Amino acid sequence: MKNITGPPVFGEDFFDREEQIQQFWELIESGHHILISAPRRVGKTSLMLQVRENPRSGYSILHLDTESINNENEFFRRLLNNILKMELVGRTEKVMSFFRENVPGVKKVGTDGIEFGSREVHNYNEILIRVLHAIGENGQTLIIMLDEFPMTLENIIKDESESAGRHFLGSNRELRQDPLISKNVRFVYTGSIGLENVVNRIHSAGSLMDLARLMIPPLSPGHAFELMDKLSKEYDFTLNSIAKEYIIDRIHWLNPFYIQSIIWELRSAYTTLHETITPERIDTAFNSMLEQRNHFEHWYDRLRKSWEGNEHNFAKELLNIASETGMIHANQINDIAEKYSVTESHRDIVSSLKYDGYIDNTDDPKIYRFNSPVVMEWWRKNVAN
Ligand SMILES: Nc1ncnc2c1ncn2[C@@H]1O[C@H](COP(=O)(O)OP(=O)(O)OP(=O)(O)O)[C@@H](O)[C@H]1O
Ligand SMILES: [Mg+2]
Repeated sequence: MKNITGPPVFGEDFFDREEQIQQFWELIESGHHILISAPRRVGKTSLMLQVRENPRSGYSILHLDTESINNENEFFRRLLNNILKMELVGRTEKVMSFFRENVPGVKKVGTDGIEFGSREVHNYNEILIRVLHAIGENGQTLIIMLDEFPMTLENIIKDESESAGRHFLGSNRELRQDPLISKNVRFVYTGSIGLENVVNRIHSAGSLMDLARLMIPPLSPGHAFELMDKLSKEYDFTLNSIAKEYIIDRIHWLNPFYIQSIIWELRSAYTTLHETITPERIDTAFNSMLEQRNHFEHWYDRLRKSWEGNEHNFAKELLNIASETGMIHANQINDIAEKYSVTESHRDIVSSLKYDGYIDNTDDPKIYRFNSPVVMEWWRKNVAN
């Protein structure tokens, strides 16, 4: 297992997420479409790629990153092109003859598949529906994983309008609810921002009601121990149990990304010397990890993109206080909401912050704390001060 800090991992580099993979297949096999929800960097894309590499029999899987797409027809064009490249679809005679007869201007119809260029204009959603109807014939089920779907929705809202966003959600829902399609096709949505937050902002919560939720929690302490063992074994690097416990204590919210990152820092500083890793050395490694802007910047970036003006100021001040004092009370939150005149929207903002993994109030509903002490420390140093 290689020490990877950033890109998605799969195969030998993927640390066991057996329970979530099991849940994934249970939902798929009982006919559900899925929304995978988890805060940033917990391993959503990795989980999907791992599933794609190890499909159960009878399933073909497409994973598509839609981050750069900003309009509905373009979304369906890209989706259609990718589906047509799949062996399951491209070789279906019904699909081929449908194209020959119904879609003029398609040049490539052959064993290497069909592809629409960006200059041809068709109603790609309509064509996609016909293609998805046709694939049921060979008895396989197609799983379509749409990664960064919430970003596409956000792009559409920004570049076109909220009503274009609602239309986009509606078209996707119609696909899922088409009786012929839902027999042989399952949709899986995820992304680095919470789909529910974007959807709530345009008052369209109903458009996700039919999706089953799959949560990806952080690792348990036992699993975090195991991940550290696997990584240190690979690099012939020694971490005794005091060191491992200290790391777990400091990370607290056991996102595999932070474990990979801290091991990376420790390896870069100490492998060659074969020194004992003491808590002081772990503290130093945490400090260098916090210097890695690209590991954390997205926590602030997201805030800037989600809210403007007073709403932005409200969210920022709330997080600033929580980062400086370790917590923030619900009464203080109400006071800040009044200060910035956002008493209408502040509940939505707080629940977005919860959903996206910034803060949590499970222990006591009135007290909010940062989920991750690591993010809290980064925030205190880089945003609050
Ligand atoms: N199962 C895993 N085993 C080992 N490392 C993992 C695992 N899942 C995630 N990671 C670590 O987290 C990093 C990010 O993983 P991934 O891109 O899958 O997360 P994500 O939730 O899709 O992130 P984003 O919200 O940014 O899209 C990886 O580079 C790796 O360091
Ligand atoms: Mg991802």
